[in-house]
Amino acid sequence: MKGPSSKDSLDISVANYEDVILARQKARELMQSMGFSLLAQTRMVTAVSELARNMVVHAGRGQMSVNSVEKLNQKGIECIFQDKGPGIQNIDQALRQGFSTSNSLGLGLGGAKKLCAEFDIQTTVGKGTRVTIREWKTR
Ligand SMILES: Nc1ncnc2c1ncn2[C@@H]1O[C@H](COP(=O)(O)OP(=O)(O)OP(=O)(O)O)[C@@H](O)[C@H]1O
Ligand SMILES: [Mg+2]
Repeated sequence: MKGPSSKDSLDISVANYEDVILARQKARELMQSMGFSLLAQTRMVTAVSELARNMVVHAGRGQMSVNSVEKLNQKGIECIFQDKGPGIQNIDQALRQGFSTSNSLGLGLGGAKKLCAEFDIQTTVGKGTRVTIREWKTR
């Protein structure tokens, strides 16, 4: 998904839990500098955390890009999580609360979707997964 026009942009390689923390920090820093509310920051950072963690747990590693975006008169943040892991066979099932192939709570993916203004997931079994989330300042 190629989004609205992108200004600041940052790529982070995510392979372990320290990288997940760095991903959280970078998303929060950009939101802070853009003047997002603390509540909006916390929602987005929680989603970032879950999606970054999913790349580590389910795909071994992946890339996150953090971008500032604009559409019409709205400014926003966009985070894209891309991995070359096993992909997801059934997206609806994976989004359902309580579904997990890792014996965990199965809250991450569905939770991230609920927390963000925009959520898009593209996945191909055997090739990988790409999740895009966005939050807009005026929400
Ligand atoms: N990047 C990914 N690559 C492959 N499979 C994924 C990926 N992200 C999620 N999944 C699949 O979707 C399921 C649901 O993800 P979700 O984050 O909700 O749960 P979980 O990671 O198993 O547990 P939790 O996040 O609650 O600790 C996972 O169990 C896994 O099968
Ligand atoms: Mg998860």
